Amino acid sequence: MFDPAVFAARRAAYMKAIGSQAIAIARSQPERLRNGDAYHPFRQNSDVLYLTGFAEPECTLVLRPGAEHDKVVMFVRPRDPELETWDGRRAGLEGAKERYGAEVAYDISELDSKLAELTANVDEWYVGLGIDDALDALVARTIARLRRTEKKGQRPPRAIVDPREALHELRLIKQPEELAALRKASAIASDAHVAAIRHGRPGVFEYELEAIINYQFRRRGGAGPGYATIVGAGANATILHYIENKSKIADGDLVLVDAGCEYDHYTSDITRTWPANGTFSPAQARVYEIVLATQLAAIAMCRVGTTIDDIHQFCVKSLTEGMIELGLLAGPVEERIKDLSYRRFYMHGTSHWLGLDVHDAGAYTRAGKPRPLEAGMVITIEPGLYIAPNAEGVPDELRGIGVRIEDDIVITRGDPEVLTAACPKTVAELEALAKT
Ligand code: GLY
Ligand code: MN
Ligand code: MN
Repeated sequence: MFDPAVFAARRAAYMKAIGSQAIAIARSQPERLRNGDAYHPFRQNSDVLYLTGFAEPECTLVLRPGAEHDKVVMFVRPRDPELETWDGRRAGLEGAKERYGAEVAYDISELDSKLAELTANVDEWYVGLGIDDALDALVARTIARLRRTEKKGQRPPRAIVDPREALHELRLIKQPEELAALRKASAIASDAHVAAIRHGRPGVFEYELEAIINYQFRRRGGAGPGYATIVGAGANATILHYIENKSKIADGDLVLVDAGCEYDHYTSDITRTWPANGTFSPAQARVYEIVLATQLAAIAMCRVGTTIDDIHQFCVKSLTEGMIELGLLAGPVEERIKDLSYRRFYMHGTSHWLGLDVHDAGAYTRAGKPRPLEAGMVITIEPGLYIAPNAEGVPDELRGIGVRIEDDIVITRGDPEVLTAACPKTVAELEALAKT
């Protein structure tokens, strides 16, 4: 976890951004039942993590920049020796104050009764609605309560403001400690991909590679995968979010692995595609080289002032030219871009923000237009080509080939920093590694 001063500075920046006539609420999503009485592993809401580092369930943070005292209020689970014996340690109210920056902490069971007085008489509440029904209901109940006390001097807000504007702009520009976490998450994931490439050969099951990858994440101190690990061999590589990972790898298959490690709550996001038997077939190599050349040129575009849309448009053009060269589409290229037929083989975006969330917070547009990249932003570059096994009107030898190559890039004032550069991706490197 970062130094408490990091979280204090983030809270101060957020409070400055919303101003003294506002309060902000951030809170953990409810724990989810998996089956019976067993729960999915809990992962804290990223806004709560960003502002406090507090990772326990049942937490609500209230920031009150205009208050004279108690600007940082946390509602948390109290210490409870018996429950802690069953469910694990709790920071409790004292811990919230001593370790997580709360000026005052309350038992989470008091949230309903205390929230109205803590949030009365400001113009705006920064709270994300439409994500968690329980939070929506809490906000409505609290406003109803304040309507009733208005004559006595405690009034509800005039507006509810989406926190994405203020808070997610802060999350978008990564500070040095965040970049350090992302570097570590990227280094671990790069090594995990290398281990998978070494181990993956015909006869091995996709789930074995998933296990090797997720094992590497944990043994190096990561929390695990930042999103469900994708291991798709052969035609499974043409399914974008294939997470079943249950097929046996066959001789002649390409294997596509999309896996990122979460470290200190920040995740990397890497995709590599390689031949299980150590040799790309001529058709596989042709597809691969088109994606790789596109990806390298797209990474070179990752500079201050360019937009993600510019980069995507470039990739669409380059990949569509490739589709024509491969005989997947008939030219001219501009027509195939205009009529969107390229989407049969390249149907997703090229980039997204990366950070606490794999698809991280932050606006992609400004006044309806793509926004220019700025130093400190972190994005992925992930072009691909996916030729379905039953695609009609395409050369036989290309059917069932799926290739994606994905790296994580820091925008700097100079050249882009490729966080995942240690993970091999040339044909020669991959073939050599897959043969070892
Ligand atoms: N692994 C999710 C993505 O690449 O966006
Ligand atoms: Mn991605
Ligand atoms: Mn990915």
